[in-house]
Amino acid sequence: MRPVKITENVYSLRVNHFNRHLFDSLIPLPDGTSYNAYLVKGTEKTALLDSVDPEKKEVLFDYLKGVEKLDYIVAHHAEQDHSGSISFVLEKYPSAKVVTNPRCKEFLMSHLALPADKFIEVKDGEILSLGGKTLEFVYLPWVHWPETMGTYLREDKILFSCDFFGSHLAAGGLFSDERTVYAPMKRYYAEIMMPFRSNIKAHLEKLSKYEINVIAPSHGPVHKNVKFVQSIYSDWAVGEPKNKALVAYVSMHGSTYILVNRLVSALEEAGVNVEKLNLEQFDEGRVAMALVDAATVIVGTPTVLAGPHPKAVYGACLMNALRPKVKFISIIGSYGWGGKAVETLAGMLTNIKAEIIPPVLVKGLPKEEDLKKIDELASIIALRHKGLEL
Ligand code: FEO
Repeated sequence: MRPVKITENVYSLRVNHFNRHLFDSLIPLPDGTSYNAYLVKGTEKTALLDSVDPEKKEVLFDYLKGVEKLDYIVAHHAEQDHSGSISFVLEKYPSAKVVTNPRCKEFLMSHLALPADKFIEVKDGEILSLGGKTLEFVYLPWVHWPETMGTYLREDKILFSCDFFGSHLAAGGLFSDERTVYAPMKRYYAEIMMPFRSNIKAHLEKLSKYEINVIAPSHGPVHKNVKFVQSIYSDWAVGEPKNKALVAYVSMHGSTYILVNRLVSALEEAGVNVEKLNLEQFDEGRVAMALVDAATVIVGTPTVLAGPHPKAVYGACLMNALRPKVKFISIIGSYGWGGKAVETLAGMLTNIKAEIIPPVLVKGLPKEEDLKKIDELASIIALRHKGLEL
């Protein structure tokens, strides 16, 4: 593999992982992913920015053929998909120092067993000159871990943003295409950054003071359309939720499904956009993406062993962890002889500061009066959505 030039003496060492299907043993990767290291050569020093997942370290070493001396390895983030090959890089370049912030140093010493004397600590805003290439370190804590930072290359106006603005997308071209990168970026934001919206908002404000020509994240393609990338993030993290309801459901014998279908029709007739997701085949990323801009979430569940269906429980657990900007929540479902499906689910959604619209739980097969209650629920939701944009 040969490094791909971004600007003079600045290279992308992107390692695509096309056939990786799961991240963190949790998140489906429909488009694979990539681990992006970068190489910056100054007149005096050379720096590698991040490494790659250790499973793909041989590809990184292939890129580094011909790089005789490495002075610095900048570690933006201690998560192993970026830091996991640093020990191997240090074996090849034993005089190199790891440049990072104190928190990340602590994590790297813990996760990779690196000795303290291998590090150079840098502060927020500190600079490191490579000779004609000036690295400015920009702390970006809680993109999803507390130690994350980025690097701004002053001469080239490139922001190396780590996970921020990334996408799980194994792609051929160096630069992103707005049409194909939007959905993978949204999925990635939803899965790991949505719970930290207030930090993301602060980071967007901090970065607005920099003149940025290129954003080079640690996953997915590099962005030349900086305004596009910043504006979609602003919409997701700061913007109001949209006139959209997520109906996430599971049904065993069809009764809950009848309620779900009636609700979806009634909501659409009332002018509410609906995303309907069957939790039977769970795609965590689809659920997370839908939560980015939905104003309302309705969980549909039958009653199993006196409680909600386990897949509805998992859905509620995921929603609660992701802390979306949802404004309204409700629950619908059917039961055979009793149980506490509603109480259990409601008790699991405590992180979401939303109004609970009275649930509709019916006995057995829904009857006409049950369906009327569903229509009423749809009317209440439509009323609450008045004024929200599509
Ligand atoms: Fe891509 Fe948080 O590591």
